[in-house]
Amino acid sequence: MINVTKSYLPDLAEYTAYLKGIWDRVYLTNDGPLVRELEDQIKAYLGVRHLKYCTNGTVVLQMALKALDITKEVITTPFSYVATTNALLWEGCTPVFADIRPDDFNIDPDAIEPLITPNTQAIMATHVYGNACRIDQIQAIADKYGLKVIYDAAHTFGASYNGRSILSYGDLSTCSFHATKVFHTVEGGCIVTDNDEMAEKLHFYRSFGHRNDDYRSIGINAKNSELHAAMGLCVLPKVPELIAARKTIFDQYSARLDFSRITRPTLLPGMDYNYAYYPVVFESEETLLLVFDALQAQEIIARRYFYPSLNTLPFLKSYQPCPVSESVARRVLCLPLYPGLPEADVDRIAGIVNEALVLSGVGV
Ligand SMILES: Cc1ncc(COP(=O)(O)O)c(C=O)c1O
Repeated sequence: MINVTKSYLPDLAEYTAYLKGIWDRVYLTNDGPLVRELEDQIKAYLGVRHLKYCTNGTVVLQMALKALDITKEVITTPFSYVATTNALLWEGCTPVFADIRPDDFNIDPDAIEPLITPNTQAIMATHVYGNACRIDQIQAIADKYGLKVIYDAAHTFGASYNGRSILSYGDLSTCSFHATKVFHTVEGGCIVTDNDEMAEKLHFYRSFGHRNDDYRSIGINAKNSELHAAMGLCVLPKVPELIAARKTIFDQYSARLDFSRITRPTLLPGMDYNYAYYPVVFESEETLLLVFDALQAQEIIARRYFYPSLNTLPFLKSYQPCPVSESVARRVLCLPLYPGLPEADVDRIAGIVNEALVLSGVGV
């Protein structure tokens, strides 16, 4: 079976060498030496000033909202993983959905401004598939109306825009280090800021709001463990070669797929991409389902990602139409992409997609 992704696992001996250190120190969690070492190494790799390593890419979104005191309306994207909307709802904020651009599926800055009301406090946007949003336009709108900008940069590890890590943009930026991501620590995530006071605040938030007897603020338990950090320390040095391996597979798909009846999102000029996903968009949901079934018949699992469009979630208070996002969400499929996926399998997957497209056209 070929799954849409496969986690990278480092050499077991490398990981167990870290375990030996943990066993020797008997220090398992609470801002331990490996957590600090990992934070330092990631900061150096990304070129960012402050980074707090946390338990996942969801809690950091919640921490971002809390740290910026956001409680009212937030303009957000309907085309993301459900965690983006959930974080807003969980923190008692009201998500206001701005539709996406039809070319790259990121939030459309032109759709943001008409939605701003006196209750709007922030923009929370996702850099979809690791491709940057229209960062400059979004910042200009935020500056004009005094809004905060939070980026869900869960997909962006190792990607940069205009020569800077995408994680360095916005008031706060968050990432997921889940096992399926380009860089992972099994479970994990981080929050990034260049503001010293904000970094201190987040440090306290991550650990119940106190350090020893210094009870400074409310907080949550978002600390990650030494065992997770050890995985990160093993995977991080491999990131450049993992991204290069992804690029090779990405290019193979691009060379072999028949683009007469499928499209792909465009990359923002200025991007240095991390090849996190290979999404393809079909002309209709029926065609997508045909291709999906044809792949599944050969034990190849593609993923409808993102689906459904978040503005249609059944537990939202009201329905806010986002026609572009709803249409793309019904028609987009991510093909398997991970380092180590053999070229012969990429050929086979592309062949099945092309053939299913031909069959779907029969009689049209
Ligand atoms: C865009 C986006 N935001 C947030 C998350 C949540 O990250 P985590 O699974 O680490 O909580 C994900 C995870 O897939 C994601 O894709």
